[in-house]
Amino acid sequence: MTAGSKRQDILDWTNASWERLPASAALRQRAGEMAEKLAGEIKAGKLPFLATPFMAALEKDLAELESGFLARFEHMLLLGIGGSALGARALQKAFAPGQDLPGHTGKSIWIMDNVDAAVLEAHLDRLPAGKTLVYVVSKSGDTIETIGQYFLVKAWLKKALPQNWKDHLLLNTDEKKGYLREEATTFGIRTLPVPDNLGGRYSAISAVGLVPAAFLGLDWRGLVRGFQAVAAPLADPKLDAAGLAAHPSFEFAVWGKALMDAGYLELITFFYIPAWSSFADWFAQLWAESLGKDGMGSQPIPTVGATDQHSVNQMFLDGPRNKACLFVERATGPEGLPFPTDMPAIFDYLQGKRFGELLPAEALGTRMGLTQSQVPLVALRLGVDDAVAAGKMMALLGAATLLTGWLMGINPVDQPAVELGKRLAKARLGASGLAEEKAQLSAFTTGGRDERGV
Ligand code: PA5
Repeated sequence: MTAGSKRQDILDWTNASWERLPASAALRQRAGEMAEKLAGEIKAGKLPFLATPFMAALEKDLAELESGFLARFEHMLLLGIGGSALGARALQKAFAPGQDLPGHTGKSIWIMDNVDAAVLEAHLDRLPAGKTLVYVVSKSGDTIETIGQYFLVKAWLKKALPQNWKDHLLLNTDEKKGYLREEATTFGIRTLPVPDNLGGRYSAISAVGLVPAAFLGLDWRGLVRGFQAVAAPLADPKLDAAGLAAHPSFEFAVWGKALMDAGYLELITFFYIPAWSSFADWFAQLWAESLGKDGMGSQPIPTVGATDQHSVNQMFLDGPRNKACLFVERATGPEGLPFPTDMPAIFDYLQGKRFGELLPAEALGTRMGLTQSQVPLVALRLGVDDAVAAGKMMALLGAATLLTGWLMGINPVDQPAVELGKRLAKARLGASGLAEEKAQLSAFTTGGRDERGV
């Protein structure tokens, strides 16, 4: 995984524990079958995630938006959930950390990916409508968490800006269907399309994540460049078994599936780039929603070093031996301040050192500790933790997730099981129809409960 002259991004397989993953050899033999499947799906237009046919037009739109429309606003209120929010948050936290630091004066993004009444109200009370762009992201255009907020935010905009409320909205939704598309058509609201077959959790490097990136002035071109460097070879019609076998996403997929077969049913992602910790949440949704199917899958556990060394790491090291780990680190980080010279003798080992030396030392300690505890571990080591590297990582992990799903024999781009909860919530709120769900609700909430005081 290399690109460009200065950088070298490495997947370190040294501690992958292949010897404990007997299924891996047979899985590797399936590269030809997987390459054929990829070619077929790409040809049928079902994998815009890898082929990115929408990118040229989007890059043009982004360049215009960046210097024009987006430049008018100081705040972006992003309404979206799941894959419509997690990529944007990861990019914001990784590359615009200023918003979480004292004294921030630049642009801000507020991501509303919940239905917390108090939080929404606090934002509407405090944000200046005249300087706020409301970016609504929903592929389906009718996700209740997002649309419920949209109704309230639209009313807020209309009240504050009766003449030009529409100019403070940008909708990112399906090109043809869904409630948001109807809204756009009815009111002439500015939109960007979510391309057909581009599922939420695979859509971060599209307008879904790139508009927030452009709004914050991040290097969105670098994200695209890095993403395509890893994704494009997989979308190449000439890709054959050998080509796929040599691609890091396939090796990761072989590892991911072989781990499940060997009973490693939890996958830790340990990010030793603190500002990148939200990528662990992004990956957790990608992996879990894609692969938790038919009684199979492995549970992603998002963690960040050094913080989680003092939290869940004891369980990783000495709990059930059912965990593997994707460890993400960088070759070099910030140097940090020098330690003062008047430290007590027990901290002598810090004399002459800088604060930035702690994190890599702790990363090494944790990586070795996990390895010595027999946790199969693959390390993704980035030469530079910039936008290009993030784009590469997102393509690598997205493609690896997809291929793992195919090796499992499941569909990694749907999420049927979560539909039940959505239908039940709608039934609870009194939506018409849904008779079966209403009957189930009544049985669940009334019959034979075992409820005790605490
Ligand atoms: O990854 C997915 O497909 C989901 O997490 C969706 O992103 C999430 O359910 C939101 O859906 P929508 O974008 O249709 O509002």
